[in-house]
Amino acid sequence: MSDESRPTPAQTPVAAVIPAAGRGVRLGPGAPKALRALSGTPMLIHAVRALAASRHVSLVIVVAPPDGAAEVKSLLDAHALPGGTPSGSWGRTDFLVVPGGESRQESVRLGLDALPPQYGVVLVHDAARPLVPVDTVDAVVEAVRDGAPAVVPALPLADTVKEVEPAAAAGDPEPVVATPERSRLRAVQTPQGFDRATLVRAHETVTENVTDDASMVEQLGLTVVAVPGHEEAFKVTRPLDLVLAEAVLARRRLTDGF
Ligand code: CTP
Ligand code: MG
Repeated sequence: MSDESRPTPAQTPVAAVIPAAGRGVRLGPGAPKALRALSGTPMLIHAVRALAASRHVSLVIVVAPPDGAAEVKSLLDAHALPGGTPSGSWGRTDFLVVPGGESRQESVRLGLDALPPQYGVVLVHDAARPLVPVDTVDAVVEAVRDGAPAVVPALPLADTVKEVEPAAAAGDPEPVVATPERSRLRAVQTPQGFDRATLVRAHETVTENVTDDASMVEQLGLTVVAVPGHEEAFKVTRPLDLVLAEAVLARRRLTDGF
């Protein structure tokens, strides 16, 4: 495609890659984390619904546990919108399922490998953040459409953060080496949004382990921008997070009436 005919970020369709292939070791023994139920519905289904709720998102690629792709595909079909949509779509949002890898980074890359050519903007969203509000998704998409190569939703921190010299054995005292100024720090969430070519290049270039996709783009020397995140976009990581997620869903049932 020539540069003249390539759609601008403002025109191109948006796809979301949802890494869901982790075990959830910190949550404790049980099914893979993304398949555990919240209020009777698998966490992954909440996450897919949250992304499909955005009018911008027309394709969701779910990266399933390596041996769980068939199970995830039937879960998605079973939870498709009532009224009967063809297999592989929820109303106006299509979905694909691919098997994941050993690390989150590898799982995201496997999702990107399955991305059809017409999608010029990509969101990457943790299945473990099932309750992200649609307004947060839309804010990220709009910032990418406005020309940012990489966008993260971020929140100010409540706790003061210390840098320490990590102890050799867990639980041993650790010397504090620095206290970064809290007002300059942000906790970042997902979905993170990218110009597709930028994210693909980042995944081709950066080989060391990272904990989010935006940091790979930073390593390319490009600017990542933060937009306001949302407290309901928290990551379900430890058992207490399940309690919080159930409470958020109960509050939504009260306020939304369903
Ligand atoms: N993830 C993935 N592939 C992996 C590891 C993680 O797709 N090999 C996904 C998880 O399914 C999750 C997201 O990346 O949606 C964020 O990771 P995290 O919260 O760390 O989930 P887990 O790795 O499953 O949890 P833990 O680290 O406690 O095992
Ligand atoms: Mg993990």
